[in-house]
Amino acid sequence: MSTVDAFPLIRSDLAGLSIPELAKQFGTPAYFYDSASILERIADLRAFDTIRYAQKAASNLAILDLVRREGVLVDAVSAGEIQRALAAGYTAEGHPHPIVYTADIFDHEALDLVVEHGIHVNCGSPTMIDQLGERAPGRDITLRINPGFGHGHSQKTNTGGEHSKHGIWHEQLADCLLRADRHGLQVTGLHMHIGSGTDLEHLSQVCGAMERCAMEVGRTIKTVSAGGGLPIPYTADQSTVDLAAYYRLWHESRQRLAAEFGHPIELEIEPGRYLVAESGYLLTEIRAIKKMKDHLFYLVDAGFNNLARPILYGSYHPMSIAYAEDIPRQMNMQEVVVGGPLCESGDIFTQEEGGFVCKRELPVAAVGDFLLLERAGAYGYVMSSNYNSKPMVAEILLHQGKAHLIRERQSFEDLVRGELIPDLG
Ligand code: LLP
Repeated sequence: MSTVDAFPLIRSDLAGLSIPELAKQFGTPAYFYDSASILERIADLRAFDTIRYAQKAASNLAILDLVRREGVLVDAVSAGEIQRALAAGYTAEGHPHPIVYTADIFDHEALDLVVEHGIHVNCGSPTMIDQLGERAPGRDITLRINPGFGHGHSQKTNTGGEHSKHGIWHEQLADCLLRADRHGLQVTGLHMHIGSGTDLEHLSQVCGAMERCAMEVGRTIKTVSAGGGLPIPYTADQSTVDLAAYYRLWHESRQRLAAEFGHPIELEIEPGRYLVAESGYLLTEIRAIKKMKDHLFYLVDAGFNNLARPILYGSYHPMSIAYAEDIPRQMNMQEVVVGGPLCESGDIFTQEEGGFVCKRELPVAAVGDFLLLERAGAYGYVMSSNYNSKPMVAEILLHQGKAHLIRERQSFEDLVRGELIPDLG
């Protein structure tokens, strides 16, 4: 485990490309993803038999295509995510399952899709077992178990324990096996995901719970999934995860199961944040600077409609300034509050959980300079909205020295598409 170097406070380029040039070409606000970072994070996890990307973190087709080319498989939590995976070139069936549908319910559309395409299902509720069994008896399934404990970077991202709606309560496993039997479904996999942005201490406890559940299911088990949840450092004093130690724990666990069952056990990991968070930058332009008594505000052109993590969880994102013009300046620091353009007072990027506004030490900047919200690749664009009739922004993939537009910024026509004014006479 090691802490990271301090994050830069001034930047002039992203992946070697000039920030003012990128802003000119694509406009602001816009999301940029550095493909090299995604590829490095994938490489970190190669020890696991299967890396299954939790696409909810960043589901642009181009990102799915990038990770697919690296042999990374994919998780889908909705009909839309299944369709994205198919559109990005994943096949529905194969070994290991290219796409796994993981959820606590089937809406009608998702059930139709998994039945029609033969997509593997990770059932997060006893009801799902019955609903799938009635439509597609005889299939292999995975069960997502809530081991009775969980942990996340926020109470809102804790997915285990009795207050969580996720997974099958561990004490109901026997009942679920009976349900599966009734429909001729074979439980070939077990999955546990205790929360997002958790820590190694909590993640490590999952192995023991998994082993106990696997023993209860028995020899039909061929795959265990450690879920996602790997944290990444958002501040310089947070440390990177000791992945080797984490892998060792799971490897030993699966070896014990393999010895017990007399066949190999495949080990999956299902990261979202870990693969993409660091790759992503939300590039904004400072549009106004003003003072409220002792508080100096940088107001940028992106708000919580573009990056909701600070207002939702009080999440901290590193920030940096890129000067609009390349004139050498002395870096003077000042304490500022960073906010967006929305007509809502919670539209502040420098806030703690509970909505408490805080100050951030940033370089002195002027209107027209750029401000980057960093480590925003995971749960950034995907959680954005059209609040205040703001268009969804462009996404750009930076790959081998080139900037590729991977999503166009919405136009006004996009914004009102589907809206109808009825003839009221
Ligand atoms: N697998 C399952 C079943 C999940 O529910 C999730 C995340 C993951 C994998 C990926 O977790 P990760 O490796 O990214 O921690 N919007 C929140 C995070 C919500 C995560 C929901 N489920 C945030 O911005 O922090």
